[in-house]
Amino acid sequence: MNQDELKALVGQAAVAHVVPGSVVGVGTGSTVNCFIDALAAIKDQIAGAVSSSERSTERLKAHGIPVLDASTVERIPVYVDGADEIDHAGYMIKGGGAALTREKIVADLADRFVCIADESKLVPVMGNFPLPVEVIAMAAAQVARRFKALGGEATLRPGVLTDNGNPILDVRGLRITDPAAMEAEVNQWPGVVTVGIFARHKAQVCLLGTKDGVKTLT
Ligand code: A5P
Repeated sequence: MNQDELKALVGQAAVAHVVPGSVVGVGTGSTVNCFIDALAAIKDQIAGAVSSSERSTERLKAHGIPVLDASTVERIPVYVDGADEIDHAGYMIKGGGAALTREKIVADLADRFVCIADESKLVPVMGNFPLPVEVIAMAAAQVARRFKALGGEATLRPGVLTDNGNPILDVRGLRITDPAAMEAEVNQWPGVVTVGIFARHKAQVCLLGTKDGVKTLT
């Protein structure tokens, strides 16, 4: 099975984790696109979706799935999203698609984060994938200096602004051995909107697409 087939497999498998009658939290990315396409088949059994990006909203609406404003929803049982890297504890790097801030907001509404990923995303220690950090533009140089002090090389992602109108720094060369501590530290730096470490909002379940089928990691 190629990578696209693995993504389709886990996108389909995630439908079993949707709670009938509820509002579903929907992430962003190519794996989530497969989930959205699979979700369309049960759209009459859900109350709608809360979306983490304009792209996912468009795709949900194209399938006729109602998209609710996140501010109108108090809690949702399940949030389904992909990851750029995930470790064995369920900690993740996210934001390769620049949607990390809204992803963390929707994940924060959810009782359960279901991560869907192909097996290439599972790593023993995170940091090989450049860590995305959404920043206020005027803070970008200072945030980059702070990362340099931690051994990371931060560069602005060329030509990209988030749905919130902010630039993204991609930080290379980090070895994230304590994701919770690094997330807490970077969150305190002035001008950081969102760091792409999902430790406080880690995955409770990971549906991993492998050549032998879907493996469920908890
Ligand atoms: C979007 O900002 C990201 O957090 C995605 O969830 C992540 O990049 C995974 O995307 P793919 O499913 O396209 O690999």
